[in-house]
Amino acid sequence: MRHPLVMGNWKLNGSTYMVSELISGISNELSRVDGCDVAIAPPVMYLDQARNTLAGSRIALSAQNVDINLLGPFTGEISANMLKDVGAKYTIIGHSERRIYHKETDEEVAKKFAVLKEAGLIPVLCIGETKAEHEEGRTEEVCAREIDSVLQNLGALAMKDAVIAYEPVWAIGTGQPASSAQVQAVHQFIRAHIAKYDMAIAAKVIIQYGGSVNDKNAAELFAQPDIDGALVGGASLKIDSFAAIVKAAAFKKSDRFQCGDKAQ
Ligand code: PGA
Repeated sequence: MRHPLVMGNWKLNGSTYMVSELISGISNELSRVDGCDVAIAPPVMYLDQARNTLAGSRIALSAQNVDINLLGPFTGEISANMLKDVGAKYTIIGHSERRIYHKETDEEVAKKFAVLKEAGLIPVLCIGETKAEHEEGRTEEVCAREIDSVLQNLGALAMKDAVIAYEPVWAIGTGQPASSAQVQAVHQFIRAHIAKYDMAIAAKVIIQYGGSVNDKNAAELFAQPDIDGALVGGASLKIDSFAAIVKAAAFKKSDRFQCGDKAQ
């Protein structure tokens, strides 16, 4: 059975004060919540402080980006080994903000996926269509292309234990999430697409939804069978909202577990 994963993507937000306040608050709120994996992705310069603040907590750390190179003359970059060294477990790659503002290509994202796997970090591969692509009915084509660039370069085994975040660009930061039925349909497509390469890996891969997830809409999204948690931007910066989203995902797990028990 898949374990839901809720991850907070802080984007370009943070300060030493905020890291200390937000992490302590979230840790306190979630100290007794089980059944959902939780991670936070603060800006990279705060990872070390976050690791110290999180000591003893089961909340994991994620980076928001990684370079394709491991060392050498690449001014300003951060390597996968450095992220591992400061305690990251996950790394977000291919976020639409990086694809749009930094012109990251599918090929570069696949290379980032490879360096993370090599370093023993879990890639969180963001995929999703723009508003125009959505309106042209090209959602599945775009998602398939973004996944294929990893699968065709690295093989299906690379997806083992990886995470995919379906984030329609038009839903990010807009307060207008995709409907739970829309998201479920895309997640089902993504899982079926990976199953063409490897059915067992497809059944286990965590597929998060991201795009205006908040404490009001989380439970309905998580009630869908193929939505395995969320990548949360804005709402991850508020202790109460983020904790409520994690609790909704944890409830999904316990609820489905009981259903499964009864069915046996
Ligand atoms: P949002 O961002 O929750 O603020 O829409 C999600 C993301 O970009 O990961």
